[in-house]
Amino acid sequence: LSEQSLQGKTVVITAGPTREAIDPVRYISNHSSGKMGFALASAAKGLGATVKIISGPVNLTTPSGCERFDVSSALDMHQRSLELGATCDIFIACAAVADYRVAEVASHKIKKTDNNDALQINLLKNPDIVADVAKLTPKPFVLGFAAETQDLEHYARDKMQRKGLDMIAANDVSIPGQGFNSSDNALQVYWPNGQSVLSLNDKQRLAQQLMDLVVQQIDK
Ligand code: C5P
Repeated sequence: LSEQSLQGKTVVITAGPTREAIDPVRYISNHSSGKMGFALASAAKGLGATVKIISGPVNLTTPSGCERFDVSSALDMHQRSLELGATCDIFIACAAVADYRVAEVASHKIKKTDNNDALQINLLKNPDIVADVAKLTPKPFVLGFAAETQDLEHYARDKMQRKGLDMIAANDVSIPGQGFNSSDNALQVYWPNGQSVLSLNDKQRLAQQLMDLVVQQIDK
């Protein structure tokens, strides 16, 4: 594909984990590195797109020529995504969004005392960012991800339909050394009337292959 395949198109990508505050010094998060999202940003830039990354806290350098919007919580990411998603052509949800946030964030550091051997924290479900972006009009082309441990195609296609996605990239997280927080990954990609297997590769190469599939679909 040429350096002009995505010329004039705006691509928005969510990447990395979110952080859900418990109190001023603690949070709930996950091990997402943001590598896949940043690799996709770099690949989209290489195809001539205007690229905006909505990133949770990660230790990565912003790919050159990409605009970066740092966020922390899922609610912050949700707000930014709806704002930037409204004017983009392609929205890629690569972030590992926390499913739940702390219902009441303590305004002071929670103390351990002699009478709280057990502590309860109530959690509230976070909004589904990619599903809400897929409800926008005009709707961008929406690519989502699915980490599964079994029945990859069944769960991925179901997720694609429920969330209103145009394409879904699924990886089997039961296989060690790929996916989450690794430099390599393998993906099964599904769209309503097709599929493609992207075999184990480094995330940069995989991101290029995945962007090629996106270009093929939007050109149809
Ligand atoms: O439902 P599940 O978390 O498995 O879906 C994964 C896909 O949905 C990913 O593309 C992820 O970025 C996106 N997602 C989201 N907002 C959430 C949860 C997941 O955008 N609250």
